[in-house]
Parts: sequence; structure tokens; C-alpha cells
Amino acid sequence: MPVINAVSPEARAIASLFDTLLIVCAVLFIIVAGSISYIIFRYRGRPDAAEPVQIHGNARMEIIWTVIPFLVLVWIFVETARAMSASDPQDPRKPDLVIISHQWWWEVRYPGSGAVAANEIHIPVGQRWRVLLDSGDVIHDFWVPELGRKMDMVPGHPNSIWLNPSRPGTYLGTCSEYCGTQHAWMRLRVIAQPLAEFKAWEDRQVRSAAAPPSGHAGEGLNDFKGLTCLNCHTISGVNPQKSVGPDLTHLASRNTLGAGVLSNSPDTLARWLKNPQAIKPGCHMPNLKLSDDQVNALVAYFETLR
Ligand code: CUA
Repeated sequence: MPVINAVSPEARAIASLFDTLLIVCAVLFIIVAGSISYIIFRYRGRPDAAEPVQIHGNARMEIIWTVIPFLVLVWIFVETARAMSASDPQDPRKPDLVIISHQWWWEVRYPGSGAVAANEIHIPVGQRWRVLLDSGDVIHDFWVPELGRKMDMVPGHPNSIWLNPSRPGTYLGTCSEYCGTQHAWMRLRVIAQPLAEFKAWEDRQVRSAAAPPSGHAGEGLNDFKGLTCLNCHTISGVNPQKSVGPDLTHLASRNTLGAGVLSNSPDTLARWLKNPQAIKPGCHMPNLKLSDDQVNALVAYFETLR
């Protein structure tokens, strides 16, 4: 029974190395701690005992207790090197996916189709994707334990990893390098889907936002343009690309808000718009002091962004 639930060949290499090391270390611990305990008890001080025979050097034993640990270390080294190459195979091909970390959310770009998402990473099952990891500000760290290794995201120095889920599912991840106040609320979810389902999702994401709605939602669109929203956020077909905050073109299709801090519903979206600082203190979206009317109109509009 593996300790880590691994759902990709890369993660399985790490999990099986972990299991091996855990067993090796447990056996060594039992041998060493058991011997020490036995010897402490067996040869404890006795007031009436004579001084035992003094021994100086024993070449045979010294060779044995040097060679055995040496062989154990060589074995661990070989196993580690194998797990490293299996969990991070070299293949300098073009990235299938680009993830850019920001304080405190994830920008997700699909170079093939031009789709842009945030915090929720849809990928197809059974395809080995090369993922380029970059940062827009400070050092973050990408980690989805079930799918593979951790990898630092260093501004100006892109790294890459592989995502290669073997079965559909939602795999949770988080930023694993302290990156400021809201480091803990920098969650991500990888949604692995059968290829056809993934393609359908990607096709929807590539589309521009639905035609400007009328009524309440139309007022929301006007608020989006008239307030400062579009200085940081993009809605495809409304304003040019900005990467300060998440792309909102398909906001309503996502499961969470604020990189996992709230589940996504009209109520939580209204709470977020009313005062993001109350929900995620220190995040880069200020309290815009919107009126209830403005919040309701924006929610009505954003709910059309499927
Ligand atoms: Cu980003 Cu911690």
C-alpha cells in the first residue's frame, strides 16, 4: 500500500522511492535501536562486576560495519537516480501548457489553442504534457503531489515539469514556497479529463465572452468597463489582455474564487466583489467600495461568462 497516492508514472517513481526508503530506514532503525537497547540492558553497570576484558580494534568487524552501510548507500543512490530520471525525463520539446504564478493565483495558458484560464488546470488523461512554469513576481512553487514532483517557479528563469495523469479526476495542489501574505490561499486544482471532454472544455475557453447582454447584466458590463476592473482583468472581446489579475472570460465556469478561498456561486462572488480584503487580506484586489447595485449588476454579468 503506497503512502503517496500516485496517479502518473512520474509520481509513481517518487512514491515507490519513498516507500523503498521508508522500509530500508525502518529496518535499519529497528536493527540499530534494538541492538543499542539490548546492549544497554545486557551490559548495564553492576556494583559487584569485575572489569570486563578490554578489546582494542577488531579489523573484521570494522570492515563489516563499513561495507554494509556503504552498500546500502550505493543501493539508495542508484534507486534515487532512477526515480529522478523517471520523474523528470529530459525532453526539450515545446511546452503544451504554460503556468505563470502570481501573488496569489495561477495563470494558465494553452499555447496550442490560445485558451487562458486561472487556478483550474484542465488537462487530458493519458497524454504526457510538458509544462513550462514561470513567475510574474516572486518565487512560488508548483506542487500537485498525486501527479509529480515539486518545482520552483522563479521569475525570469522558467522551469518545466511533466503532467501525465493516468486516470480522470481532480487533483489538488498548492503553492509550496512562501510567497507573501496569502501564500496559504494559493491553491490550484488539476482537472484531468478524457481527451474528448478536455477538447470540448478547451473549445469553450477559446471563445470570446458571450455577446454583451442587456438589462441588469448589461449594466454589469458597463460597470466592468467604467470602474477600474479592466485595468487588471481581461474579458476576451471586451478589453485587451492583462495579466495583473485572473482572466474573467469564463469566470462562471470555474469551481472556486480567489485561488480556492471560496467556492464559486453568485452569493460568494457578491461577497468577494463587496470586499475582497475581508476574504483574502492583502490580496492585490482592493476594496472598490462598490454599491449594492453595482455588485448585483456585476454578478449578473459575470454569471453569463460561462
Ligand atoms: Cu505562491 Cu506561496
